[in-house]
Amino acid sequence: MKKIAIFASGSGTNLQSIVDYIKQGTLQAEIALVVCDQPGAFAIERAKKENIPTFIFKAKDYENKVAFETEIVKELRERDVEFIVLAGYMRLIGETLLSAYSHKIVNIHPSLLPAFPGKDAIGQAFNAGVKITGVTIHYVDEGMDTGPIIAQQAVDILDGDTRDTLQVRIQDTEHWLYPDVLRKILA
Ligand code: GRF
Repeated sequence: MKKIAIFASGSGTNLQSIVDYIKQGTLQAEIALVVCDQPGAFAIERAKKENIPTFIFKAKDYENKVAFETEIVKELRERDVEFIVLAGYMRLIGETLLSAYSHKIVNIHPSLLPAFPGKDAIGQAFNAGVKITGVTIHYVDEGMDTGPIIAQQAVDILDGDTRDTLQVRIQDTEHWLYPDVLRKILA
């Protein structure tokens, strides 16, 4: 059983869906650690409820990115984590983590990359007036949402959609696509 870590900064709905797939037996993996850079994030509550160990930090308590990523790598190694799953982790991954987990970090992004990288991809697509957007899962490199693409799923933008209704459909898509792709990658 592969040991994975999930990195989150926010509500953790993707974390929850991965947990649920594991509990149902449709994804074979063990979440050995949840890493979170926002001490108030609801993702932490979800991890605690599931008895998943957490490493919670504040970037400003460290001198720089190398310092906190060195600490994260130590935590990951202590728990024999083999693979990192970014699920709403709002920081660029630095050289320390990238070299320790080369080609073993994946991210989910709520657009069809390379369209609409960065923050608020759903709002960006909505405001651009495109008729199709979607979800991308990709390997992580040093760029912002730029690594090799693993999977994409289109989501139509419907007449009458608001940014919020679109977000609901994008997130519903994320919640089955991520566990599905992880099942294939971790097999
Ligand atoms: C998701 O939309 C994901 O694509 C993006 O951040 C959001 C995280 O949501 N990278 P959640 O914390 O999993 O609910």
